[in-house]
Amino acid sequence: MNYKEKTVARGAEAIVYKLGSKVVKDRIPKGYRHPDLDNKLRTRRTKSEEKLLSKASEIVSTPKPLITSSSSDNYKIHMPYIPGKKLSEHLDKLKNYQTICKKIGQSLAKLHDAGLIHGDLTTSNLILTKNNKVFFIDFGLGFHSTRIEDKAVDLHLISQALEAKHSSIHEKAFKSILQGYKSSKNYQETIKRLEKVESRGRYKKQY
Ligand SMILES: Nc1ncnc2c1ncn2[C@@H]1O[C@H](COP(=O)(O)OP(=O)(O)O)[C@@H](O)[C@H]1O
Ligand SMILES: [Mg+2]
Repeated sequence: MNYKEKTVARGAEAIVYKLGSKVVKDRIPKGYRHPDLDNKLRTRRTKSEEKLLSKASEIVSTPKPLITSSSSDNYKIHMPYIPGKKLSEHLDKLKNYQTICKKIGQSLAKLHDAGLIHGDLTTSNLILTKNNKVFFIDFGLGFHSTRIEDKAVDLHLISQALEAKHSSIHEKAFKSILQGYKSSKNYQETIKRLEKVESRGRYKKQY
């Protein structure tokens, strides 16, 4: 397999490469781990992400893992390629960024109401398609939880990511995310907790 030409991304854990209209997320071995442990961890993380993506795809826009003849491969997830703009590179330039952010908040509310925590909510893990749908990708750090704390931390992560990467728009952008997040059944409680989470850090904010 000639990975190089088709490589979409190479992260610390995985290589993502394009295969026709699909992408394959392939968790790579880590030389510093014992091979048995390494295989176990890669298998566990791959299966976990696959399950979460699959569940999330019933709730919000996300690439639903595909069953393939090689799906017996423990370290790979095959999924549809989502053509679009990665929000990490485009959000600041979009005139309608507030509308997009509101959609992100609405989708996050749906995930949280279904007991799914994304775990790595940054604009690198959000793709905007031509028809203005926002796809959530990368559930590698995701997990099941109905705890308010976990939901608040998920919101805090995106708030921090906006501040770090999109500093000129971060306040308005996050306000719009919270606008959308109002649709969550635990909105009030989660916002209260978010304020607590943030008061543990440097800033104290009120929403
Ligand atoms: N289904 C997909 N469609 C299009 N691009 C994708 C898809 N999955 C991943 N990518 C691209 O690959 C990058 C890395 O994938 P991701 O799942 O976020 O892995 P990592 O855990 O390494 O961050 C993403 O930021 C995105 O650019
Ligand atoms: Mg990612």
